[in-house]
Amino acid sequence: MKTVIEDMRQGLQEEGIKRAGEVIKRGGLVAFPTETVYGLGANALDPEASEKIYSAKGRPSDNPLIVHIADWEKLNFIVRDVPEAARRLGEAFWPGPLTMIFRRKETVPLTTTGGLDTVAVRMPDHPVALGLIRAGGGYIAAPSANTSGRPSPTKASHVLEDMDGIIDMIIDGGDVGIGLESTIVDFTEEMPVILRPGYINQNMIQEVIGEVRMDQALIDEHSSVRPKAPGMKYRHYAPKAQLYIVEGAEEEVRQKIDALAEQEERRGRRAGVIVTEESVPFYHHGILKVIGSRGDELSISRHLFGILREFDEMDVQVIYSEAFHTPQMGQAIMNRLLKAAGHQIIKT
Ligand code: TXA
Ligand code: MG
Repeated sequence: MKTVIEDMRQGLQEEGIKRAGEVIKRGGLVAFPTETVYGLGANALDPEASEKIYSAKGRPSDNPLIVHIADWEKLNFIVRDVPEAARRLGEAFWPGPLTMIFRRKETVPLTTTGGLDTVAVRMPDHPVALGLIRAGGGYIAAPSANTSGRPSPTKASHVLEDMDGIIDMIIDGGDVGIGLESTIVDFTEEMPVILRPGYINQNMIQEVIGEVRMDQALIDEHSSVRPKAPGMKYRHYAPKAQLYIVEGAEEEVRQKIDALAEQEERRGRRAGVIVTEESVPFYHHGILKVIGSRGDELSISRHLFGILREFDEMDVQVIYSEAFHTPQMGQAIMNRLLKAAGHQIIKT
């Protein structure tokens, strides 16, 4: 299959969106930009179309997809009820990097929900995504547009790496703004629960709806507690090299990482090192990748997955990273980084 690329780096192109909407309507696959990561979209109401997503990604069939909508009126067609708290949360953060889980109506095929009787819904905050959803009939099922087990794509070239020749179309909308997947909140239990941390954190949610718990599997990642989001149980984002997170006082972390990178050099190898702008002058060994600045959390979240992909292209066996416990998104950033590292932490 030839994968067509539609260039919308300068914004939504009406003609291109029409073509993309046609591909969705006839059951094809279109990768598209959102504010979080690139999604791999298909008609969410067509079981054969959503089935194709699983095979394109190599995704286990028990891992449900998020249904993307562009307008509130579409919600009632796919969910049985919208709790008051969910409505308020949606009013505060939709369109935006928030996914909410509801009880499913039978209009949504089980292939889309991975066999579950619940459905995840999100209204993304990106003009191209919203345009595509409307042009494609209103309901687009989309996981992140990576091959299963690779980092989520934050630019069109990442999607091309994983999906060239496998899907019908890629809409290039340039680099994404956030770079980490949406926050997921489950509204199908007594109390709302955060299943995946993201740009919108627990405090921001609590300010709108009061108490919200974190899924036990997020709090205690080494426990045998089963995460409620099936996708959270997989070892995602695994780079080819061994990744270690080095934690401790700032100065000690820099010294430790630099010493470890020097040790690699003495063995005739080079280590990858993930650092912030502020600490660049303190490193003398290894291949440095600057992720962003500690004063600008989005610069860190936006570049994390891209850097992991870059190291996959290079000949490094080991990567050392600083930790990024930033105020708003620290939990989300560290959740992804810890998974990529298989929870290997070096404490200074
Ligand atoms: O930011 C995002 O959410 C991106 C963009 C494309 O919108 N999408 C994304 O999709 O990250 P995906 O498939 O990579 O992650 C969806 C997560 C998975 O962990 C999945 O298990 C969980 O949501 N999920 C989906 N439906 C669910 C449901 N009904 N109950 C529990 N977890 C669900
Ligand atoms: Mg994903």
